[in-house]
Amino acid sequence: MTNPAAGDAPDSPAARVQALRAAINEANYRYYVLDAPTLPDAEYDRLLRELQAIEAEHPELLSVDSPTQRVGAEPLKAFAEVAHTIPMLSLGNAFSEADVVAFDRRVREGLAREASNTEIEYAVEPKFDGLAVALHYQNGLFVRGATRGDGFSGEDVSANLRTIHSIPMRLATDDPPAWLEVRGEVLMLRSDFERLNDIARDKGEKTFVNPRNAAAGSLRQLDPRISAQRRLSFFAYGVGRVEGFELPETHAAVMDRLAELRLPVSDERSVATGVAGLMRYFTALGERRDSLPFDIDGAVYKVNRLADQAVLGFVARAPRFAIAHKYPAQEEITQVEAIDVQVGRTGALTPVARLKPVFVGGVTVTNATLHNEDEVRRKDVRVGDSVIVRRAGDVIPEVAGVLLERRPMRDLVTPEFPPFRMPTSCPECGAPVIRLEGESAARCSNGLSCPAQRKQALIHFVSRRAMDIDGLGEKLVEQLLERGLIRTPADLYRLQREELAGLERMADKSADNLLRAIESSRGKDLARFIYALGIRNVGEQTAKDLARHFGSLDALMQADSIALQQVPDVGPVVAQSMLAFFAEPHNQSVIANLRLAGAWKDGEAQPSVAGNLAGMTFVLTGTLPTLSRDQAKALIEAEGGKVVGSVSRKTDFVVAGADPGSKLTKAQELGIRILDQAAFHELISNGEKAK
Ligand code: IVH
Repeated sequence: MTNPAAGDAPDSPAARVQALRAAINEANYRYYVLDAPTLPDAEYDRLLRELQAIEAEHPELLSVDSPTQRVGAEPLKAFAEVAHTIPMLSLGNAFSEADVVAFDRRVREGLAREASNTEIEYAVEPKFDGLAVALHYQNGLFVRGATRGDGFSGEDVSANLRTIHSIPMRLATDDPPAWLEVRGEVLMLRSDFERLNDIARDKGEKTFVNPRNAAAGSLRQLDPRISAQRRLSFFAYGVGRVEGFELPETHAAVMDRLAELRLPVSDERSVATGVAGLMRYFTALGERRDSLPFDIDGAVYKVNRLADQAVLGFVARAPRFAIAHKYPAQEEITQVEAIDVQVGRTGALTPVARLKPVFVGGVTVTNATLHNEDEVRRKDVRVGDSVIVRRAGDVIPEVAGVLLERRPMRDLVTPEFPPFRMPTSCPECGAPVIRLEGESAARCSNGLSCPAQRKQALIHFVSRRAMDIDGLGEKLVEQLLERGLIRTPADLYRLQREELAGLERMADKSADNLLRAIESSRGKDLARFIYALGIRNVGEQTAKDLARHFGSLDALMQADSIALQQVPDVGPVVAQSMLAFFAEPHNQSVIANLRLAGAWKDGEAQPSVAGNLAGMTFVLTGTLPTLSRDQAKALIEAEGGKVVGSVSRKTDFVVAGADPGSKLTKAQELGIRILDQAAFHELISNGEKAK
């Protein structure tokens, strides 16, 4: 940090400001552009606060490119208009290899190379699914940024663009061009989109349909302080007006120059030759599409040599030298044919939209969960509606939104489009449906007397992470129930070979295999058995904690609420679920029969230690300098703490090492305390006193 600007005394405020800005800009670049953070967050915050303090005291040192100016300016009344000196055009589309062949032929004809065998070299890039913007740099300083608008003029969204940390406020060069207009795409990363919608959902607010809409809404937000809270990203893909900037010979080299100036350019870009090369890139990028951190809707091919681009020129509003090759859509419009209500293992009622089959994201989708009553109401999905169905990546398909404009008389409650209502009696057994205060789920009140709950409970009992009875899937459980061969999990251990013989697709061999699988599931460890019981609010981790703490099922069943709450993360609600479960005579008798069958074996009680980390929940992310993940976990558990896989409001600490994942960002978002290895050791030794 000793790099004072020439002329300033090394310890002057001016020199310190320079040094702080350099360090913060460097950290921003590494974090947001290279995705390889080096500065711990606490240190970054400290530098930023110091810079803010000096600037407050010495307003003469303030400058528009200071990193303190990214936080979001005052709200605007309207956006000013910005004319594009060089119009921002759109791209023609290719939907098939034949379209690509035709494009390449037009290019070769245009360059009079169709006769020869010379293949064309193309710069190839993802087609980012966001919004086009132009960034204006005057003498290296970011002076303005605008949306594409109608291509000839757009809106001045400079204040919002300043909040995008990966966009440099000053180009990284000692010899900046007089003018450089950088063009590229503003988008929202999938992880940032999910987080934004999670927060909206928590607040009961409307969610965004997709990352693109979220990015558009944030970029065109008149209050930059709101944009600053919604993390946007930017990728450059070209230049507009340039002065004093010597353009290299190829588009690929232009991109390299932009990267040198520390503008974000995608790592996914490459160079390909001829149609075969383009198709190889298209396939390879398509295979990775789902795992990219952002949505793309195709690949863009651009004739690489700029001189050739100039020869080819434009047709109407699109260049002849470039084309967008589209992937199949991840969003489609379809109709809701019905909204069914499914009953789950714990009686929770889940509304499910039955859809007119639609091919989206590579699969045919016929239904999508609507989660719960509130979610349906928030989205106001009704039978007969046209809806946007989205399936991005391997995420389960969802109804992203309703096209209200397609609902006739949308403002009226008409008999044709009645709003969804949760049934008041269970669709499976007719028992009353109850919804407790503070719960999002409405439930069937019939417990295991409800056939649907019984079936789901059995499916859960035999599932891989529970009793792990191989070969006993949903269909088979259904058949066994229908034929009255089983009613409860305990009945599984009494099944006879002859009884199985009559079942569909049950050859002798499969019957033997099934009986063997049931047989070998006896004597499961207590943790799995507790989990297999399917007690509401008792997940795998809690089951493990309970087994460890109590050692035997009898001890667990005898525990009262106070005793149960000695276990990490067991509060009054979870304790109440367990007490209610074990108080049910039906459950008691099933457990007695499972005991006779030897379904589980008890272990040793290891009452939870009241260590320095007792009751604290940790999430580990990234690589710690000298501790493996298992070692860190063991240290935490030895002090009575607990490690969980994902960050939530209940997380107390995130221990972060090098190359942390999205967990770190989520933790920052939620204001959860973040520890490096040193702070982690400190906490282990001294507990919270250390803070
Ligand atoms: S080049 C003259 N490259 O696609 C060509 N555009 O349909 C200018 N887009 O408005 C565009 N990724 O928003 C180019 N790698 C990429 C792109 C890209 C996404 C968008 C851009 C443009 C639209 C054209």
